[in-house]
Amino acid sequence: MSPALIEVEDLTLSFAGVRALDGVTFSIDEGEFFAVIGPNGAGKSTLFNCVSGIYRPGAGSIRFDGREILGSAPHRIAKAGIARTFQNVDVFPAMTVRECLLLARHQHLRSGPVASMIRWGRSAREERAALRQVTEVAERLGLGDLLGHQVGPLPHGVQKRVELARSLCMEPRLLLLDEPVAGMNHEETARMAATLSEVNTDLGITMLLVEHDMSMVMGISDRVCVLDFGRRIALDTPANVVRDEAVIDAYLGGAL
Ligand SMILES: Nc1ncnc2c1ncn2[C@@H]1O[C@H](COP(=O)(O)OP(=O)(O)OP(=O)(O)O)[C@@H](O)[C@H]1O
Ligand SMILES: [Mg+2]
Repeated sequence: MSPALIEVEDLTLSFAGVRALDGVTFSIDEGEFFAVIGPNGAGKSTLFNCVSGIYRPGAGSIRFDGREILGSAPHRIAKAGIARTFQNVDVFPAMTVRECLLLARHQHLRSGPVASMIRWGRSAREERAALRQVTEVAERLGLGDLLGHQVGPLPHGVQKRVELARSLCMEPRLLLLDEPVAGMNHEETARMAATLSEVNTDLGITMLLVEHDMSMVMGISDRVCVLDFGRRIALDTPANVVRDEAVIDAYLGGAL
């Protein structure tokens, strides 16, 4: 029996002749903190979009907990236990932090998109449990005092935390993070890195991180996969990846 939580095999996807992913293979063990790095356009976000069901790859396989998920609808993949954040902040600006997190939890619990929007049959007890969980997640992420605040006017770094909180409210087993510290200053980055590390170790959530901030990636990850022009050019520990000639040539030469 393999301890892998997710196994990506020979994943291939082209856009109008451009090979965004070209036979990408890797697997992530349960509890692992796994990163994917590479130059702009290497295929990192495309990979996330395949895993979360937004894109359908032309070939390959993605098994989550032993089951094929390739071709499943995004809400089914989320229900199976894969949550994600987006490269660009994607929150509802008019909602309060509390509403935003409650919506994420309800959407997850009521599987169909229609059922999730219509608030039928929810008992007061369910509501209280939801509120408790949302408050707990917000406090863990340092958002406890902001639950009643509208999301729109909050600083970018805080909105990124709201996005993370929202994905945690779905109680995932695997969390996909697309550039969680992009646009953050040094302090916000350090704080986010510490939070992500805690989420991984305290909550036992397996992490799949895409990030350009190399000191953060190398400090936090168990293993790093490097993509270049849609192909995997390395897969190793951070210490070995930073010494890899092909990786230095393709990416790190400019990024470090
Ligand atoms: N929806 C799309 N339609 C057409 N081409 C696309 C689409 N999405 C991605 N691509 C192309 O696929 C390739 C991989 O893009 P992708 O966004 O996955 O890169 P990335 O590694 O996430 O880059 P970045 O670090 O800039 O976020 C690029 O050549 C990009 O132009
Ligand atoms: Mg990207």
